Amino acid sequence: MSKKNQTHVVDNLWCIEENRFNQDTNKHFEGLFTQGNGYMHVRGSFEEGLRGAAQDEEYMRMPANVTLEQPRHTKSKWGTFIPGIVGKHPLLKEEIINLPYFLGIDLIIADEELNMEASTIREYKRWLDLRDGCLYRSLIWETEQGIDLKLCYKRFVSMEEKHLCLQQVQIEVLSGEGILDIRCGINPEVRTNGFNHFKEVLTEDNNSEYICTKTITDGGNSVLMLSGISASENICWSRLTQNQRIFFSGSRLLKAGDCLEIQKVTSVVTDRDLEEGTLIERGEKYLKYFFKEGWEKIYERHSRAWDSKWLYSDIEITGDDEAQLAIRTYIYHLIRANSENDSRVAICAKGYAGEAYFGHYFWDTEINMLPFFIHTNPQAARNLLMYRYNTLEGARKNALENGYEGAKYAWEASVTGEEQCPCWQYADHEIHITADIIYAMYHYVNSTEDIAFVRNFGVDMMVETARYWVQRVDRNKDGYYELLGVMGPDEYLPITRNNAFTNRMVKFSLEKTADLLQKIKQEDAKGYLEIENRLGLKELEIEKIKEVAEKLILPYDENTDIVPQSEDFESYADVDFNAIWKDRTKPFGNFISQEKNYRSKALKQADVLELMLLYPDDFTREQLTNAYDYYEPITTHDSSLSASVHGIVAAWMGRMPEAEKFLKKVMDIDMSEEKKGAAEGIHIANCGGLWQMIVYGFAGLKSAMWCDEIQLAPHLPDKWTKLEFTLAWHGKRYRITVTKEKHEITELY
Ligand code: BGC
Repeated sequence: MSKKNQTHVVDNLWCIEENRFNQDTNKHFEGLFTQGNGYMHVRGSFEEGLRGAAQDEEYMRMPANVTLEQPRHTKSKWGTFIPGIVGKHPLLKEEIINLPYFLGIDLIIADEELNMEASTIREYKRWLDLRDGCLYRSLIWETEQGIDLKLCYKRFVSMEEKHLCLQQVQIEVLSGEGILDIRCGINPEVRTNGFNHFKEVLTEDNNSEYICTKTITDGGNSVLMLSGISASENICWSRLTQNQRIFFSGSRLLKAGDCLEIQKVTSVVTDRDLEEGTLIERGEKYLKYFFKEGWEKIYERHSRAWDSKWLYSDIEITGDDEAQLAIRTYIYHLIRANSENDSRVAICAKGYAGEAYFGHYFWDTEINMLPFFIHTNPQAARNLLMYRYNTLEGARKNALENGYEGAKYAWEASVTGEEQCPCWQYADHEIHITADIIYAMYHYVNSTEDIAFVRNFGVDMMVETARYWVQRVDRNKDGYYELLGVMGPDEYLPITRNNAFTNRMVKFSLEKTADLLQKIKQEDAKGYLEIENRLGLKELEIEKIKEVAEKLILPYDENTDIVPQSEDFESYADVDFNAIWKDRTKPFGNFISQEKNYRSKALKQADVLELMLLYPDDFTREQLTNAYDYYEPITTHDSSLSASVHGIVAAWMGRMPEAEKFLKKVMDIDMSEEKKGAAEGIHIANCGGLWQMIVYGFAGLKSAMWCDEIQLAPHLPDKWTKLEFTLAWHGKRYRITVTKEKHEITELY
């Protein structure tokens, strides 16, 4: 048999590596090594799984504060997600469905099974190459019978042929001999958060060239998976089923010096896809394409597609390899998680790398992730905003359900836009998202000059959300408007009075709406008439929008020159953090009851500082410093959205040791093996947070929301000698180079 060994160079600036197998960190690496292409995503689980880590355990996951939850499945959780394939859960509402596991490849030699926990393994290494999203594993397996095998695995989810996942394993016999049994299958014994969303699983078909699983979900979708197989040596494959599993089974005698390569290809299609043809036609088409073109050609197209993504997305840091790898990892996940041509879905809070948060969409998309897309792939940013336009009907239902006209965007959204949040305090009170979306749209428009977006789509979102706001406010005895019963970004104070962040966002949104309508009316009478007819808009409504915008209170305390988080903030109880927070490696929320937390001055995350980040011109440097000094010591950073905001503000103030402390925190959130942060999925908002920290914080880019020309005020961390990246700005691309001495902005085309 041919000897064909893979040689890999693991570039430590482009590859995330696991150097020893440890069952305690396995779940973390499964999340961190998630692969995907926008259309589908698979967690980085082992091909053969882990023994004793059942994936079909049924239980009722209760709605909870995800930050403090103790998740099940401590060792391993498979994950196969297709954005938009969601099902109903009795308590969690709509959740993304964890689909059948199609990565399965089991190896058994001389009756001994490869089992990462029990087998004797040497020279283990696993790594994800961020350049092309390929996941590798190499190891030497010493069996009890003295057979030594060198195994090299590689797999990728094609960035070009979005329905294909390719896997290969090379098996080289170093010593001994025995019969190798190989089983490559599709396994539907998977539950999502303990719930079975599969109404029917069909494995029957008459084709002997592939195995097939068709899953009918309780959300009414059909998902078809077809796997084909090829080997470098002649193997007679048979197709077997065991319960709902289906697999190819083949065997071959291997001797010292032999080398065998197995390739498995899986095509995944659903009835939700935007392509023509029946499921089986399409599934077979992709599979045939693989067998016609072969691994190399498909890999080349895939890797070129990744190259074109990196061309405008990469950030290069000289002097800090840890930060270099972290930003590339986070950018990789942002690119992977985004479905840039399907505006029926957005990016869920765990970046389609885990079941937590049920695949729901939050403000994370607009405020944390969108800036990355605006400046690297504006078309993708537009697509994300289109998702909000496409789900306006759901937002209208949310408003109606709460007794209002107009549109209220869901705190947690899914495919319909209807509220999915299972916990009342966020669903009812964390209302800022409705205005955040309008802010984000203007951020996109101001950065790209795509004014047509506002006229064609934005105006409906603006008028409808403004209608909601003018009813959601209360008029006080002095004739000013207030927003009562509000949870701001800080989720540890659920029902406050006039949250500074929320009120400013709403004011912005209403001002923009009134201005826009006035402008259209003056410049385009016909267009205005169309809007009036389409939305049933009345002149009086515009007056009301203007009035509320003008008279909406923005809390401020003249005596202290500190912007209060909410008007009533001072009245909450002070917290003795040292007495309560015994172990700072765990979230503060674990050490205090929710009831006590909700009446205390302990912040989960940046709130006023987030406001200052989004409206930098509203505040003086002194106010910024005052806010940082006041809020930072009482902020627990229990939310992963917090550290990056603090890091940016610290960099703006030139307090570099503090900024660097937050940089470390932001990197550790998903990169730290010790913290195991990626176990339940990627904190994808924090990925956008790191990008912002580097671009807005360290390069000091002034947000395109507030200026036309690129303006930089850099503060580089001590170790960084150079920072380079590319920015899309007003339809052009620019190369930004920052060193300690100077910065340069070069137009690319
Ligand atoms: C944070 C929210 C965030 C959500 C999803 C929560 O823990 O407090 O701000 O939107 O997670 O990431």
